[in-house]
Amino acid sequence: MRKALVTGASRGIGAAIAEALAGRGIEVLRPPRQELNLADAGSIQAYLEARPEHGIGILVNNAGINVISPLEGVRRDDWQAMLQVNLSAPMQLIQGLVPAMKAAGWGRVINISSLFSLVTREGRSAYAVTKAGLNSLTRSAALELAPHGILVNAVCPGYIETDMTRLNNPPEVLAEIARAIPMRRLGRPEEIARLVAFLCSDDNTYITGQSLVIDGGFTCV
Ligand code: NAI
Repeated sequence: MRKALVTGASRGIGAAIAEALAGRGIEVLRPPRQELNLADAGSIQAYLEARPEHGIGILVNNAGINVISPLEGVRRDDWQAMLQVNLSAPMQLIQGLVPAMKAAGWGRVINISSLFSLVTREGRSAYAVTKAGLNSLTRSAALELAPHGILVNAVCPGYIETDMTRLNNPPEVLAEIARAIPMRRLGRPEEIARLVAFLCSDDNTYITGQSLVIDGGFTCV
C-alpha cells in the first residue's frame, strides 16, 4: 500500500486531498500541528527523525498561511512566518523524505502553490513571493529527482471555497470575484484534490516540474 504525507489536512483543500488519496487506497498521514508544526524547523526535524523507516512515497506540501498587508506595512515576523510555512517547510520535508523515495525508485511530490505565484493582487506581496518560490523549488526538485522516478509538480489553485478565502474576503467581495471568474463561481476543494490525486498516481508518468493552474479560467482574462 502506498503511503502519503499531507500537510495542513485538518480542513479545506488539505482535508479534501487526504480524503481523495485515502479513497484511492493510499494510507494517508495527516499529522496535527502538535505533532508537526511547520512554523518550527525543529518540529519538522523531530517529526522526520522519529520516522526513519517511514515508507512515505507521496508528499503533498499543502499547508500555507496568507497574512494580507499593504507592501509598506508587511511586518517582519509575518514575512518570516510566511516564508517558513509556505516555502522553507516544504523544502525541509522534501529533503527529509526524498532519500526513501530514491531508494524505492518511485515518488511523487505535490506543492500546493497559488494563482498568486503567477499574478498578484494588492496586499499579497509576501504570500506571492513564497508561492513563486515554491514554483521555482518545484522546477529545481523535478530536474534533480527525475532520474530517480520522482515526479514533482506544483498545483496553483484560483479562488477556492475554504476558510482562508472567507477570512480574507468579505461576502460582497467574494460575489464580485465570482463574477470575474469565467466559470462564474469559486472552485471547490474536491476539484483541487482530484488533480492532486491524478498527479501523484501511476497514471501520471511524464508530467514533472510544472505549475498547473486550476482556476476556472480566472488567469485567462
Ligand atoms: P486553510 O487556511 O483552510 O487551511 C490551511 C491548513 O494549513 C490548515 O490545516 C492549518 O492547520 C494548516 N497550517 C497552517 N499553519 C500551519 C503550521 N504552522 N503547521 C502545520 N499546519 C499548519 O487553507 P486552504 O484554503 O485549504 O489552503 C490550502 C493551501 O492552498 C495553502 O497552501 C494555500 O496557500 C493554498 N491556496 C488556497 C487558495 C484558496 O482559495 N483557498 C487559493 C490558492 C492557494
